[in-house]
Amino acid sequence: MNLASIQAAENKLLLNTYERNPYLFVDGKGVYLRDENGDHFLDLLSGIGVCALGYGHPAIEQAIAHQSARLLHTSNLFFHQGTANLALLLTEISGLDRVFFCNSGTEAWEAALKLARANATKAREAGKKLGTKFLVLEHSFHGRTMGSVATTHKEKYRLPFGPVMPDVEFVRFDDVADLRAKFSEDVCGICIEPIQGEGGIHPVSKEFFVAARELCDSTGALLLADEIQSGIGRTGKWFAYQHYGILPDVTTVAKPIAGGIPMGAMLCAEKAAAAITPGMHGTTFGGGPLACAVAIAVIDTIQRENILAHVDEVGNYFRAQLEGLKQHHDSIKEVRGLGLMIGMELHSAELAKQVAAQMMERHIIINRTSETVLRFLPPYILERKHVDMTVTALDELLKANREYAGAVPAGEKIHG
Ligand SMILES: Cc1ncc(COP(=O)(O)O)c(C=O)c1O
Repeated sequence: MNLASIQAAENKLLLNTYERNPYLFVDGKGVYLRDENGDHFLDLLSGIGVCALGYGHPAIEQAIAHQSARLLHTSNLFFHQGTANLALLLTEISGLDRVFFCNSGTEAWEAALKLARANATKAREAGKKLGTKFLVLEHSFHGRTMGSVATTHKEKYRLPFGPVMPDVEFVRFDDVADLRAKFSEDVCGICIEPIQGEGGIHPVSKEFFVAARELCDSTGALLLADEIQSGIGRTGKWFAYQHYGILPDVTTVAKPIAGGIPMGAMLCAEKAAAAITPGMHGTTFGGGPLACAVAIAVIDTIQRENILAHVDEVGNYFRAQLEGLKQHHDSIKEVRGLGLMIGMELHSAELAKQVAAQMMERHIIINRTSETVLRFLPPYILERKHVDMTVTALDELLKANREYAGAVPAGEKIHG
């Protein structure tokens, strides 16, 4: 089937959840995707932060080939060789003690929410006062299942599905006074994306993160860090919280962990893990042999090839180049991010829309989030020459689209 017939069939057959761009990709190598016409696209989105080692990476290919020839699934009623090895790697790189494996980001976040509630139930049974409320940041995104969506700020995602999980209160982003005012013994968990992704690449301040840690310590509530977009090396450290010198009680990962094979994981401290006993939580496919083998290959490659240092170096270069661009374009409001999790906010939503679409026409894939923010989540193997190509194209398009530069920002206003 060609693009047109696939489009027609999908329009008729699929639930109407995504507005896809009209491109049909057939394979990829390194940081490039190739479409049905044989055209190459420089990919600065990596499947929304998933394909961390790019496309066709030999370590991933080998892990899939090797494992699929041996064993794909055993169920969680039996042991296999991958789970403990991967859990050991994850606990070593995170500083946390135990792992729950699942299949997606939202499933990992559900596990984190359930753990916080179970931890509070256990505390109440022991005579302590700990409630059931979650404090969550405005502009947060934690996923699409009922608990995750209840802790996701944007009403469009949440309201049509109401009533979602109760006992969630939103705190103004980075507002320590608001956090303190809303915190009490009623709270079982504070939820933070150390760098908000979907919300527009906004790193939380150290002051806010530290305050959240202290408040949780004061009652036994859990500090939950969602690293589904920022974790497993994207920011130049394994976890974004490591930039802050803070250890949460719980963190969640997914997107890049198995390089494109679906996998999620919830990692937690021993004291929180004690709230879960056999039968309370689980998932059929979680931590299967294939996903574990590939995740081990991904983490091993990042370690062996010193890729975190590369992410840091190329990320710094990328942001510096974008800052340079800002000197020449009044249409750029701010450049934000860490490592290769970067956002460039424009003053105009219409300009951001035009630039993202025209970059695609130039065969460079980027994404727009929160209306005005151009988001870059490239594979970790991106090189300076790819940054240069991207920045040159952005420069030309910002010049060519000056007519939109003064347009009033459309849609909601994010983060003041
Ligand atoms: C911070 C964060 N949490 C949760 C999710 C949900 O992950 P998934 O789409 O794998 O369910 C995402 C996805 O974009 C995310 O960025």
